Amino acid sequence: MTAQSIPLAAVIGHPIVHSKSPRLHGYWLGKYGIEGHYVPMDVAPEDLEVVIQAMPKMGYVGANVTIPHKETVMALVDTLTDSAKAIGAVNTLVFEEDGSITGDNTDGYGFIENLRQGAPDWKAETGPAMVLGAGGAARAIVFSLLEAGVPKVMISNRTKARAEGLCADFGEKVEVVDWNKAASALGEAETLVNTTSLGMVGKAPLEISLDALSSGATVTDIVYNPLETELLRQAREKGCPTVDGLGMLLHQAVPGFEAWFGKRPEVDAGLRDEVLG
Ligand code: ATR
Repeated sequence: MTAQSIPLAAVIGHPIVHSKSPRLHGYWLGKYGIEGHYVPMDVAPEDLEVVIQAMPKMGYVGANVTIPHKETVMALVDTLTDSAKAIGAVNTLVFEEDGSITGDNTDGYGFIENLRQGAPDWKAETGPAMVLGAGGAARAIVFSLLEAGVPKVMISNRTKARAEGLCADFGEKVEVVDWNKAASALGEAETLVNTTSLGMVGKAPLEISLDALSSGATVTDIVYNPLETELLRQAREKGCPTVDGLGMLLHQAVPGFEAWFGKRPEVDAGLRDEVLG
């Protein structure tokens, strides 16, 4: 890219029509009066490599990467950040001025920032966290909880082997709890996170009793449709601080926007309305 050209960024996925990222970055470009563009790009897996190699030559300064490319793109970058390595997936590409490509993962960062903004009294060191689910989102969240200083992370997943896989990757501070014992293990948890798709519009409900959970525990859900899931509603009724999942999506976008367009953007109420609208 020449110094005068208008910076371009994209979200690359397959399919991509439902992505909220163009709306999100478009809001910030408008808010800060930045001359730049952010577009959705539908790229089939077999075309990913050629597309990524061409993009820097077309004025692109970076991209977000989503399903199904988050793991395969790792082989196509020059440098992986520590979080991308630990999480085993990339969601943010930066096309550097020297022609190299950096792959980062900002999902864990987005999760923690959302928790800190939504529950300002939350402190990582207070006690163990319970993570429900063991998919890609859980991997980013377990990494970020440990990095933030949570002393122990319990993982409970319908398919136990996937929870054991996460446990093996993240070491001794992580332990597996049987799916049917998750509710009773909540007594120990100071943080509860749902990373499964349960509770989302059109999916089965997440059925877990919160009876054992302390009313001081912070509860969050990565599901944001509905914004207040049944889990969050029950937690709120118990008096627990709750944080909805929309903010994780908004906060994970911050580092990319800053790297591409040179401005650290703010996650504000206007952005939430824009993305929800
Ligand atoms: P992502 O990468 O977005 O986290 P995923 O890898 O498909 O998505 O993971 C979805 C999570 O929701 C998994 O933990 C999954 O449990 P399994 O590993 O047993 O599949 C969980 N999940 C989905 N439907 C579920 C259901 N009906 N009951 C319990 N867990 C469910």
